[in-house]
Amino acid sequence: MHDRLRILVLHGPNLNLLGRREPHIYGMLTLEDINQRLHSLAGELGVDLEIVQSNHEGVLLDALHERIDSVQGCLLNPAALTQYSVGLHDAIKAMPFPVVEVHLSNLHTREEWRRESLVGSAAKATVQGFGWRSYTAALRTVVEQLRDS
Ligand code: DQA
Repeated sequence: MHDRLRILVLHGPNLNLLGRREPHIYGMLTLEDINQRLHSLAGELGVDLEIVQSNHEGVLLDALHERIDSVQGCLLNPAALTQYSVGLHDAIKAMPFPVVEVHLSNLHTREEWRRESLVGSAAKATVQGFGWRSYTAALRTVVEQLRDS
């Protein structure tokens, strides 16, 4: 009998505005809608989720550090911190569990400057371009892989 897996979901800057923020790119769902879908999938998969959104890099770093021994995986949408956050890059490297980078949009089909992801270069994998389903695809896959290992 295994303990229930605990997965942390981190949403970065401006994601609190989903639903009214460039809906042609990010979709019509609010962050609350996405979180509800994640909680319902977590229920199906039998895992526990903790979800944090912040517009502040340090809060996201603290959220990771505080859970270094209590979660087994993390989904992270670094949003506006994607390209430049050495702090998040280094924190991901310091974690003993897999961190999956998630984006609603496909950065490769957008502005040139969005393409390079410093945060993603430290992550286990990146799921992007499926809208809110990027999160659910990442959750399913990371749980499946954790259970395999
Ligand atoms: C985003 C893409 C980023 O480039 C942007 O800064 C965001 C959202 C996404 O989920 O598609 O805030 O991370």
